[in-house]
Amino acid sequence: MTMPSIVDGLRGSGRGIGAFNAILLEHAEAIVAGAEDARLPVILQISQNAVLYHGSLAPFAAACLSLAAHASVPVVVHLDHAEDEALIDQAVALGIRSVMFDAAALPYADNVARTRAVVERCHAAGCWVEAELGEIGGKDGAHAPGVRTDPAEAAAFVAATGVDALAVAVGSSHAMNTRDAVLDDELIGRLAAAVPVPLVLHGSSGVPEDGLRRAVREGITKVNVGTLLNRVLTGKVRETLAERTELTDPRKYLSPGRDAVRTAVAQTLRLLAPAPSPVAGH
Ligand code: G3H
Ligand code: ZN
Repeated sequence: MTMPSIVDGLRGSGRGIGAFNAILLEHAEAIVAGAEDARLPVILQISQNAVLYHGSLAPFAAACLSLAAHASVPVVVHLDHAEDEALIDQAVALGIRSVMFDAAALPYADNVARTRAVVERCHAAGCWVEAELGEIGGKDGAHAPGVRTDPAEAAAFVAATGVDALAVAVGSSHAMNTRDAVLDDELIGRLAAAVPVPLVLHGSSGVPEDGLRRAVREGITKVNVGTLLNRVLTGKVRETLAERTELTDPRKYLSPGRDAVRTAVAQTLRLLAPAPSPVAGH
């Protein structure tokens, strides 16, 4: 299953797709199972930080690609927030056909030049590329609170780089533990009108459910969710271990956590892909 076959048809439809970050195998299993429960496609993401945690990409990528290949719904494996171009080449060599190149911390001209070079290499290998347009440096790049993407600059960046999707700054921020981020819906609408490729929302864990519904209605296509799954997983594991202090077998406390993540994934996918409203008179 390729990324264009999943996301291109969603652009302009008022519907979106969830892209969930997996760190552990249990996350990946829950993300695929949740999508199967919802009977909806899903994007299974491995971030560069998750690769650093494991020490290498290959074993976890192989597991995720295998889960995707055997799923009963479309699953695309995606390399998320890659700043290291060698890691992107490695992902492509391992069979991953969707990557995010994150050069948002670089000055605009360098971001354009490096992103364009990555796009050329990836497209030659049949790989889809998401990029991010940042205006300030630092870890959170375009997704620091207060940063906004300018529609005209976003359109120029897409034209100059040839990227397949663009991560935009519209009010969310990475790694929030509360769901009180307020998105700029009007800006999302203007970006969707100005930019000819799907838009990506990062830091979606801090956005309330209604905010996510409005974001996809206004024109966000890919919705990246990471921290929310970790809140759910860790909360359930903590509760289970507190109730059953005798447990030592990790399967006994990880499986309730995995089930809770599965439920959260299905629920999030359903809210991002509402059924089209019935046409009046039918
Ligand atoms: O690229 C991943 C996402 O932007 C996840 O952000 O952990 O704040 O949901 P989050
Ligand atoms: Zn992100």
